[in-house]
Amino acid sequence: MLLAFLFIAAFVSLPASAQTRPVPNAQLASKELNARVEALLKKMTLDEKVGQLAQYSAGYATGPGASNLRYDELAAKGQVGSMLNVVGADATNHYQHIAMEKSRLHIPILFGLDVIHGHRTTFPVPLALAASWDPAAAEAVAHYSAVEARADGISWVFSPMVDIARDPRWGRIVESSGEDPYLGSAIARAWVKGYQQDDLSKPDSVAVSVKHFAAYGAPVGGRDYNAVDMSEILLRQVYLEPYRAAVEAGAATLMSSFNTINGVPASANPFILTQILRKEWGFDGFVVSDWGAVAELVNHSIGEGATVARKALEAGVDMDMEGNLYATTIATQVRAGKIPESVVDEAARRVLRVKFALGLFDRPYTVAGPAYDATPERRAAARKVAEETFVLLKNDPVEGAGILLPIASKAKKVALIGPMADNQREMLGAWNVTGDPKNVVTLKTALAERLGDRLLYAEGCGLLSGEDANLLKQINSGGPAAALASQPVPDDAKTIAEAVETAKQADVVILAVGEPTGWMEGEAGSRVHLGLTGAQVKLEQAIAATGKPVILVVLAGRPLELKWEAGHIPAILEAWSPGIEAGHAVANVLFGDVNPSGKLPVSFPRAVGQEPLYYAQLPTGRPAHGDLSHMPANSDEKYMSRYVDEDNSALYPFGWGLSYTRFSYSQPTISRAEIPVKELIASGREAVTRVGVDVKNTGSVAGTEVVQLYIRNTAASVSQPVRELKGFARVTLAPGEAKHLEFPLGFDELNFYNVEIKRTVEPTTYKIWVGGSSLAPAEASLAVVE
Ligand code: NOJ
Repeated sequence: MLLAFLFIAAFVSLPASAQTRPVPNAQLASKELNARVEALLKKMTLDEKVGQLAQYSAGYATGPGASNLRYDELAAKGQVGSMLNVVGADATNHYQHIAMEKSRLHIPILFGLDVIHGHRTTFPVPLALAASWDPAAAEAVAHYSAVEARADGISWVFSPMVDIARDPRWGRIVESSGEDPYLGSAIARAWVKGYQQDDLSKPDSVAVSVKHFAAYGAPVGGRDYNAVDMSEILLRQVYLEPYRAAVEAGAATLMSSFNTINGVPASANPFILTQILRKEWGFDGFVVSDWGAVAELVNHSIGEGATVARKALEAGVDMDMEGNLYATTIATQVRAGKIPESVVDEAARRVLRVKFALGLFDRPYTVAGPAYDATPERRAAARKVAEETFVLLKNDPVEGAGILLPIASKAKKVALIGPMADNQREMLGAWNVTGDPKNVVTLKTALAERLGDRLLYAEGCGLLSGEDANLLKQINSGGPAAALASQPVPDDAKTIAEAVETAKQADVVILAVGEPTGWMEGEAGSRVHLGLTGAQVKLEQAIAATGKPVILVVLAGRPLELKWEAGHIPAILEAWSPGIEAGHAVANVLFGDVNPSGKLPVSFPRAVGQEPLYYAQLPTGRPAHGDLSHMPANSDEKYMSRYVDEDNSALYPFGWGLSYTRFSYSQPTISRAEIPVKELIASGREAVTRVGVDVKNTGSVAGTEVVQLYIRNTAASVSQPVRELKGFARVTLAPGEAKHLEFPLGFDELNFYNVEIKRTVEPTTYKIWVGGSSLAPAEASLAVVE
């Protein structure tokens, strides 16, 4: 209780200078570890210290052009702090032997890699994982990844990506946990826990790099790398929350982002990197820049090479990823008296802390281990996790055929159609470094195992048409798109006609469509159109016109615009990019072996022009019909906050997801409906009241519901969102079974930032809703009084 009070006091009542500094990672703060760091630092020359601040890609490039340096020579001089994109025991040991045996002080190299959703075993993309609303699933994926990465010589992963993403035009939404800070923070903590296991020294733990600090997910217009402009209240209340959660969970490193924040580049931003991260949050680890982000500061017009390197270092970027600027300009500036040597010492100290904590000085090498590719245990885990991530968007009855999902096991002939139906590469999803398409079970393979000759198949069309390929050739002349563009132009009309014939022979059609993950999603994958690519919509329309019952499976790493589909296709399953067990997982859900339980971590728009679209919007003075604000409809008025050509609401809102069963909710109750404000402030992290609800499975099959609690602060000094998620739980219920759930509410859930940028609570009334989506109708209320 006392500790909790101190914590709150640190953030609420005291001025910044008097704040008690939290200690989020006891290992990095330990006296013993820091004594080893200081003893080593004393022996290091300036060049050796600067060497710790340099990171080189000795493998392939994961940004514009890798520099071509003589890494062996630098490692022998003790001037390689870290390497990325060097994978495998042999490759990493090669450089490590040089560093440990030839360099003067035998300081190990830290090997980092983009391990994003699995290492050798590819799991669903992070956005999908967030759709499971199951932090334990993210933790398990992180741990499998850590074990596999360590076996490959990697002890540092560039994950988790915790950027809040409210605009699916931004291709990197696929790497995120979506639009919400509460869900995003829960998943962020789980990633950190799974990778680091609260003990970096364990042989199967890896250090995380929480990215991209900060607010990289809110570029203007959804265009990657673009500027970010937002109020400090929004920054802190929404965008910084998942990073804070990750730091509190002990994250060892963070990655500074490419964007500017309110005009100041994030990678030279003392407010973000020092004031908030170090002084307020107590972070003792180190910050690495994103790829070349230090060098790119020149493009941001804040100086030439040496100056931007100084600005980045002084702001709090400790390591320069592939920018090569620290290595070439920092020591000279220290010698010239332009940078105090203590700044270099501090950065080197932070890097060394992590190396000691990981045990690299004691165990620098990697023993070549078993190949992890697709072991049965990992396959089973990949399948189970994928099954939890699918979101049943729609399942309407069809005249003459009834409800299509789950497909009756004796179903007669099934036609599987679409460019995602038998595409191994696409199932791996975006940002996949070491996954192998050969390990992927496609939907076609899985359905053939189940249905034998009752399965009919046609590809229908490619993911891109000839025109798309030419477009991609223009924007990516050397990349995979160019290879695609050089292939013969697909004859969509012919393949669609063939698919129609296939559909006509079947009793039910499964149509597997999506978005090419490699170049249209992920980094630099921003789009202004969010519809299906190529001739896929034509294919859908032609198949729908056959009159056969159609089940649509969407495989994509972002919310696509599915308005036509929602209006014309009776059953839609969002399956994201599911990983190596894609086919089995989707088939298990389609045939009802597994009841879908995923819920959307991000709103699906009716039209791209609504973006950024998110449920937790601020109210307007002029709410309109179809608003998310749940205010009285007033659609007869012209001067309302609405579009004249589209509804305000999402096509499928945040938290949405159906099941093969139904759940009913009791009216929520509250253990204490009135709380004095002083008591609430003093309660710290402890609950002051509990919201109770009974959830019942009223259908005929077992199912899992994600129960969600939302609040609205109705009278604060700063306008508050129309709804905010403040609790959730996955609950599995047998048919007819009911369970009572309780959600704690305290300062953590009820606070907001006031105009003085202090987390606070004020006398007010909170509306509270509990239900199965952000539209939950069952309401309770809580008064906070003087
Ligand atoms: C650039 C990306 O923005 C970042 O997420 C990644 O970790 C680095 N490149 C390293 O590959």
